[in-house]
Amino acid sequence: MNNKFQTLDDRQPYILAITGASGAIYAKTLIAYFYQHNLPLICLATRVGKKVWEWEMGVSLEKALPTSVSLYEEDDWWAPVASGSVKAKGMVVMPCSMGTLAAIAHGLSRNLIQRTADVMLKERHPLIIVPRETPLHAMHLENMLFLTRLGAIILPAMPAFYHRPKDIQDLANFVVARVLDHLGLPHTLIPSWKEMANIEA
Ligand SMILES: Cc1cc2nc3c(=O)[nH]c(=O)nc-3n(C[C@H](O)[C@H](O)[C@H](O)COP(=O)(O)O)c2cc1C
Repeated sequence: MNNKFQTLDDRQPYILAITGASGAIYAKTLIAYFYQHNLPLICLATRVGKKVWEWEMGVSLEKALPTSVSLYEEDDWWAPVASGSVKAKGMVVMPCSMGTLAAIAHGLSRNLIQRTADVMLKERHPLIIVPRETPLHAMHLENMLFLTRLGAIILPAMPAFYHRPKDIQDLANFVVARVLDHLGLPHTLIPSWKEMANIEA
């Protein structure tokens, strides 16, 4: 492959969409990973997503974002990600509300996040959806099945406990580690399985 294009490919951004489900800490943890690794990231947020972030984090999303990350509003139809011609390495919707999940599953494209997810599906780019709700009714489950069949990864915000989390951040790290695994990005957010097996009882 031509090196020039490989370099361009390397700078293709990842997209993080933040919606109004609980769990801003997951998004914050992923943003910190991209910042620490100097990887290009585009951030999208719904109106409610920004409000829930501020409620849970105690600071606005705008203030919390590193300056290297561009933030697009949900009705910014001129954002580059709204077009299928723009390449992105993958999109993560995290946390994902049941409303946004339903809209993506049914191809509504009524805001920038729904449209961008639709582009990812039609262009066959990776789309990882991290839903948060409990309990789930049949429509939630049907929508997740729909999306799985379309090629999206449904990666529920379900932290495990076998890495012996010490605090909330450790719990969030577990979910974000699984997201990074699916994006093929290396991390040390949680101990590897081998390291865990060697943890003293
Ligand atoms: C503090 C707070 C927490 C919420 N948590 C969830 C949640 O975990 N899951 C969910 O599906 N909706 C949750 N909601 C409701 C969504 O924000 C609401 O359905 C909204 O319309 C989602 O819009 P969006 O998908 O455009 O962000 C929450 C709302 C608030 C105010």
